[in-house]
Amino acid sequence: DLQQKIAALQAEVNDFQAKSAAELEQFRIRFLGTKGLVKELLASMKEVPAELKKEAGQMLNAFKQSVEARFESFAHLQQSGKKNDNNIDLSLPGTSIPLGTRHPLRMVENKIVSIFEKLGFSVATGPEIEDDWHNFTSLNMPENHTARDMQDTFYVATNPDWVLRTHTSSVQARMLEQSELPLRVVCPGRVYRNETISARAHCFFHQCEGLYIDKGVSFADLKQTLYHFVTEMFGPDTKVRFRPSYFPFTEPSAEMDISCTVCGGKGCSLCKHTGWVEILGCGMVHPNMLRNFGIDPEVYSGFAFGMGVERITQIRYQVNDLRLYSQNDVRFLRQFQAIE
Ligand code: PHE
Repeated sequence: DLQQKIAALQAEVNDFQAKSAAELEQFRIRFLGTKGLVKELLASMKEVPAELKKEAGQMLNAFKQSVEARFESFAHLQQSGKKNDNNIDLSLPGTSIPLGTRHPLRMVENKIVSIFEKLGFSVATGPEIEDDWHNFTSLNMPENHTARDMQDTFYVATNPDWVLRTHTSSVQARMLEQSELPLRVVCPGRVYRNETISARAHCFFHQCEGLYIDKGVSFADLKQTLYHFVTEMFGPDTKVRFRPSYFPFTEPSAEMDISCTVCGGKGCSLCKHTGWVEILGCGMVHPNMLRNFGIDPEVYSGFAFGMGVERITQIRYQVNDLRLYSQNDVRFLRQFQAIE
């Protein structure tokens, strides 16, 4: 009885061909599963009379081995089958790669630059180690000019003519040397001043300065350009005001304030309860400076401006400590992840 049963099943096993992982799995369940035929046959051993037990055991064992061999011969299907079957949950989210974020100063610099680019300004950069001519002398600040004291300069020890640039006006000087007129350019970049590091001062910071030289450029052009910049950067309701000031390379010179974007003029710590915050220096390019580059101030005129990127960022995002920008603390930097 058992012998016949095994013989029939043996034929089935010998003929079995797995064409897919699913078929192989069906075969496994039918023969080798916990409720499979091999188990069932082994269980029926206890009904076999004692004198036949040995023979029946050998037969069953041989059958079991042939089933296993048959199964193994299709193991390649089983391998790939495992991957596609239930063993891997393809709906699980993948391992996430932590995304970096643009530095807030770079985001604001990009914004400043793009506003001026839309007005036809090009972008120029220059060296951070600068010579005296480009950082000072050509900008109407000859040697011993008291205005040099306004900027606490780092000198390069190996060469008395070299400084770490104190403003990106040096790049404007380089552009005036190289370019044809008219010239419209903005110069973003890092600058250095010998200041004690605190919440409100740092030994390096970032500027974006601009220069526009053409025939008939007026102070009205300066005001309208900077007003346009302010409304783009801080919103259409922002007001501006100009206060007379002094820079050696511009005459007249002004400082521009905007209405406080945090309190709207009601008074807060950003505007020190005045309702206004200073954002940049500007003026009409000094005739001496134009002459230094062989430009006739009777024919050409122009305006220039310079702003601190940290300052603009502080106003836009209420960052109240300059040191945060260079500490690389991800708890600070991550707060800008969702912006832009
Ligand atoms: N270079 C000036 C500064 O660093 C800013 C400025 C630029 C002012 C152009 C007027 C015109 O403070």
